[in-house]
Amino acid sequence: MLSQLTSASFAEIHLDALEENLLQVRAQVGDCPILAVVKANAYGHGAVQIAQFLEKSKENISMFGVAFLEEGIALRESGVDTRILVLAGLPIDQIPHYIQHKLTPVIFDLETLSALNREALKTGEKVKVHLKVDTGMGRIGLSPADVLTFFEKALAYEMVSIEGLLTHFAEADLQDLSFAQKQFTSIQEILALLKGKGINVPFCHLANSAAILHFKPAHLNLVRPGLMLYGYSPLQGKTSIQLKPVMQIKARVLALKKVSKGIPLSYGRTFTTSRESVIATIGIGYADGYPFSLSNCGQMIAKGKLVPVVGRVCMDMTLLDVTETEGLSVGDFVTVIGAENGKTIWADALALKANTHTYEILCGIGDRVQRRYLKG
Ligand SMILES: Cc1ncc(COP(=O)(O)O)c(C=O)c1O
Repeated sequence: MLSQLTSASFAEIHLDALEENLLQVRAQVGDCPILAVVKANAYGHGAVQIAQFLEKSKENISMFGVAFLEEGIALRESGVDTRILVLAGLPIDQIPHYIQHKLTPVIFDLETLSALNREALKTGEKVKVHLKVDTGMGRIGLSPADVLTFFEKALAYEMVSIEGLLTHFAEADLQDLSFAQKQFTSIQEILALLKGKGINVPFCHLANSAAILHFKPAHLNLVRPGLMLYGYSPLQGKTSIQLKPVMQIKARVLALKKVSKGIPLSYGRTFTTSRESVIATIGIGYADGYPFSLSNCGQMIAKGKLVPVVGRVCMDMTLLDVTETEGLSVGDFVTVIGAENGKTIWADALALKANTHTYEILCGIGDRVQRRYLKG
């Protein structure tokens, strides 16, 4: 019943745009296998629907990437069959669930490898893992100096095989790729060392969207696009690649009122009308991911016109000055992210204004924003 109602706000997810962005990834990487990153609810786009759609694509997705176990299970329970790599590590207590749901863990210590081996012995089925190396991100991962020893010791665990070696770039989005190059060199050295010892790892991967777009040597034999699939470039400068934002967000006009000059509005009374005004109350707030920092400086598109956010953004509502907007009625929808009548507010521009980045805007879109999937 609820899903048939029109909510206060909704996100249109344009699957055609997703498909086109995937083609752009393919154009960049040629035949290289693709791991589509669908963690964090596919950057707010709905992981199950996005993965189900991508799984059917003729562009051939080799793997999906999620951060945590629950995300992997949700995909499996929705029928997704493709290999799923769980990127944020393997807590030992979760090992049985990984095996049960055929999720491929990322590991970086022998204790976990040993525990995984013990559990796999119970089922009699060999488990594949990917080994994470920290080449400069300072997050999870084994030190490059310890990789060879790890591989040698791992040979003792006959139920586990290391199928992949991965690392993550700290700043491949910059024009200056010198640190990215250092990280890449570190991985190349590891690969050479392993090769010298006769150790072959089927997959070696580190290329996120930024590296896919402007650091071709780092594509190796698996790439991990996230942001560019959803239509945005992470690069600091311009890119010639045409990506199409997949998500557009609209929110309902809950109320319209005439307000006299000199009236303060919203929490903290940070905005005071400077003229007789028409104020629209919009059904989206910071609980839905519309940033509080856009108080008094954001914009939305009402009836094809850019209109300013006035006063503080509230949990569920935001106020717009629509004095100069004609024909707006209660129940209409304004564009929060998207394009209307030649005017655009995309997530990257919104992020810039809100002093954050595109990732946070997309991932932060809340559950109350009903997702609608459009194709064709
Ligand atoms: C390990 C890993 N690989 C790939 C990605 C995808 O990065 P991007 O969205 O910049 O393509 C991420 C994103 O955070 C990540 O954490």
